[in-house]
Amino acid sequence: MSNDVVNKTRRRLLIGATTAVGAAGAVGIAVPFVGSWNPSAKAKSAGAPVKFNMSKIEPGAMVTVEWRGKPVYVVRRTPEALASLKKVEEQGVIRDPKSEAPQQPKYAQNESRAIKEEFGILLGVCTHLGCSPLYRPDVGAADLGGDKWLGGFFCPCHGSKYDLAGRVYTGVPAPLNLEVPKHFYESENVVIIGEDQGA
Ligand code: FES
Repeated sequence: MSNDVVNKTRRRLLIGATTAVGAAGAVGIAVPFVGSWNPSAKAKSAGAPVKFNMSKIEPGAMVTVEWRGKPVYVVRRTPEALASLKKVEEQGVIRDPKSEAPQQPKYAQNESRAIKEEFGILLGVCTHLGCSPLYRPDVGAADLGGDKWLGGFFCPCHGSKYDLAGRVYTGVPAPLNLEVPKHFYESENVVIIGEDQGA
């Protein structure tokens, strides 16, 4: 083989190798972009709905379920607790008694702000500055208005009060009722929080 032929062959090999590296480089750059367009499994699971069995809750008790890193309060209301909703409204101390502000899905725009009135499902985030209100079902609590207090939620950060349906009182810093997240019942006692049947 003459030197000329050897040199041409070498040049062809070098050009081929450079092209292959170039193509691999391009793929190498494209992959991270494709990856970043898809939410990670962690992000997906952070936004995913949560499933909860309501039959585990004792009447009068509240359980906190975590959804999207936030507390969701699930309260099992007794017949007395449900009766208190009307009484509190009659006291004229609730700012938005008919839940006219869009703080709940349409199917929860009723007195108990729920699909099943026995179960209240509320985002445990105060609508003032976002603290987590305390569950205070103790009727007549001296620090919350004595005889007038029929149970509900109290946010100690700046003193906001809500009734057992998460409806905010007048004269407190929180402007809105607690939010009701979307939810639906998958079966008699199992609720899915974070999604509704229209989703
Ligand atoms: S954050 Fe609840 S009263 Fe201010």
